[in-house]
Amino acid sequence: MPTRMRLTDIDLLETLSSSEYAKFLKEFQERRFIKNEILYLPNNEENSVFLVKCGKVRVYLAYEDKEFTLSILEPGDVYSTHTRAFIQAMEDTIILVTDVRTFQKIVVDSPAFSLNMVKVLGDLLKNSITIINGLVFKDIYLRLTEFLVQAVEDKGIPVQQGIKLELGLTTGEIAQIVGATRQTVSVILNDLRKSGILEKVNRRTILIKDLKKLQEINSGF
Ligand code: HEM
Repeated sequence: MPTRMRLTDIDLLETLSSSEYAKFLKEFQERRFIKNEILYLPNNEENSVFLVKCGKVRVYLAYEDKEFTLSILEPGDVYSTHTRAFIQAMEDTIILVTDVRTFQKIVVDSPAFSLNMVKVLGDLLKNSITIINGLVFKDIYLRLTEFLVQAVEDKGIPVQQGIKLELGLTTGEIAQIVGATRQTVSVILNDLRKSGILEKVNRRTILIKDLKKLQEINSGF
């Protein structure tokens, strides 16, 4: 498996705690939220940037009964309040908040912040592309995930990393079964791989790493 490229190993919290960065830390105010609390609604009036100090924060879009998770922020990640996403605490959470203007000055002085922004926005973009593919190929997504869930029930072999599926079918053959082109099935399998749900072991074998998430996708559309 190719190791995930790490854009930055800089831990912003650690960086901020160094004496050189004490001047930046002064610009942030601490705010606390309890599990499930909404930190910010879309397009909040207050134009701030925040840094997760501890806890876990979900960034998501919500339409009627549907939700699409764009990113899960962890300690050291930055995000802003001027986006169309909801921002919710998944655990008890502490954030450090500053206004956009101050953050702009900090970014100019410190590459650590810009690198972290690129990492967070890259993750957001990755998940957004998966969501777009899911919406564009909605029916095929459903048929393919249903096919995989069924195959797990029929012939899944539990292994340490998940469930091995010796399908004995190539992508082209799976495409024929679910009534799609090979290219579309490739796109979807790649999305599922990027989301950490499965991995291709070889041409005819798939490893399901997160069955729960696969089932969620299947019932989520
Ligand atoms: C230096 C500080 C920042 C400035 C000056 C800034 C400025 C802007 C501006 C002018 C827009 C367009 C707003 C609009 O269309 O009405 C925007 C959008 C956006 N910004 Fe920032 N931003 C900053 C920091 C950040 C940070 C730290 C993040 C997240 C890591 C972020 C994420 C976004 C996103 C996702 C959008 C698109 C929002 C949407 O269309 O829903 N920004 N930003």
